[in-house]
Amino acid sequence: MMPIRTPPDRLAADYAGRRSNHEQEREIAVLPDLEPLDLGLGHSPFGCPSEILKMVQSPQFASLYSDTIQVYPEDRWSSRPADQVRDRFNLAPEVHVSFASGGSYRILHSILTTLTDWDPKKKAGVIAVAPHFPNIATLTDMANPNNHNGPAYQSIAPPIGTPFHERLALLRQNRLNDDRPKIVFVDNPCNPTGEVASLEKLELLLEATNRDDTTDIAIIDEAYGDALPCNESAAQLCQRYPNLVVVRGLSKGLGLPDIRLGYAIISPGTLTEIWRNSMDLVFDVGGIPQLLASIALRPEVADPFLAEIREKTIAIKMHLIHGLSSLGIDILPTDKRVPIMLVRAPNCLNFSHFLTRHGIAAESGADFADVHPEMNNSMARLRIPGTIEEVDEAIRRIGALLREAALDPEACFAK
Ligand SMILES: Cc1ncc(COP(=O)(O)O)c(C=O)c1O
Repeated sequence: MMPIRTPPDRLAADYAGRRSNHEQEREIAVLPDLEPLDLGLGHSPFGCPSEILKMVQSPQFASLYSDTIQVYPEDRWSSRPADQVRDRFNLAPEVHVSFASGGSYRILHSILTTLTDWDPKKKAGVIAVAPHFPNIATLTDMANPNNHNGPAYQSIAPPIGTPFHERLALLRQNRLNDDRPKIVFVDNPCNPTGEVASLEKLELLLEATNRDDTTDIAIIDEAYGDALPCNESAAQLCQRYPNLVVVRGLSKGLGLPDIRLGYAIISPGTLTEIWRNSMDLVFDVGGIPQLLASIALRPEVADPFLAEIREKTIAIKMHLIHGLSSLGIDILPTDKRVPIMLVRAPNCLNFSHFLTRHGIAAESGADFADVHPEMNNSMARLRIPGTIEEVDEAIRRIGALLREAALDPEACFAK
């Protein structure tokens, strides 16, 4: 079992009253006779490819590191892993791929800073139609604090579970009534629900934003995208739509959050020009992360590794869904292939804290409150654990907690 990390360096973004999702103190109770269970942060419960582990544990790695640390990295534009990404998603050479250190988080930060401001007369706002990675709200406000055209970040998301075509209708309506440019943000798969929108649906969304008279841009954040086969990635849509940035990283499916690498796949044309002129990513990624990325992205490494964890994910997630449902816990619409999901314990106002206090790490629904009005502490975002045994243990503990709570409603049903 991998150790649970409650991030001591949680992002201290107390900006303009917004909270970041790591701001809240997470005290995972360490119970005398129980191992803590980790259904918390989004790193992969299955770790990373063994090729990488072998390498970082080898003496050669230490010698390589000490040799290269004193000079700039060989690949100043991270072009080697960028070419691998183009091969992986079958992209034409003109589709721009940029790697950046700092993970997909840093990419999102840079894009939002650049794109909300690229036409200073008409500063763009960010709009969302579903709950999503909550840091976007903070990053948008940080990127564009003096937006005189109204709030920089805006969510028009209807209730969770609203069918995609209804969300799209709301977006179309908004785009018809507003000539201010917008960045439409979607994370797909969705964090927190684990829902997946098909490429056909994403195309409808791109058509709604790709109008002649506005400069709308779509960001599709595929941080959890390695849960799905490459042909379900919006990457290929960059060749067909001029206004798309797809953001991906190595943190989730490939199990390498600590190397902090993310990449953007960008529509050719104006968007690529803006990106090239405003982002200074030369020598951005150190030699060691580039090397690790180019090993992890090799088809002979990534493909069998991802095939194996995708199979495990479905089995473990279905088992978890089944166990939680049998305890009367609601599972919000989710895709069985994605390792995260959103759950709600009816009437239990502080469910996520309740779990954390009893040794089960989980992300609180309240951390997403800035990006969706429905989200609160009665909800928890769970990431699957790595084994069926851990699921069984989690279900056993949650069942016992709910039985206790029924006897002592104050403990669970109070705020
Ligand atoms: C949707 C989404 N985007 C981006 C990120 C940032 O990931 P990283 O910076 O590790 O690539 C996360 C992490 O939880 C996420 O869930």
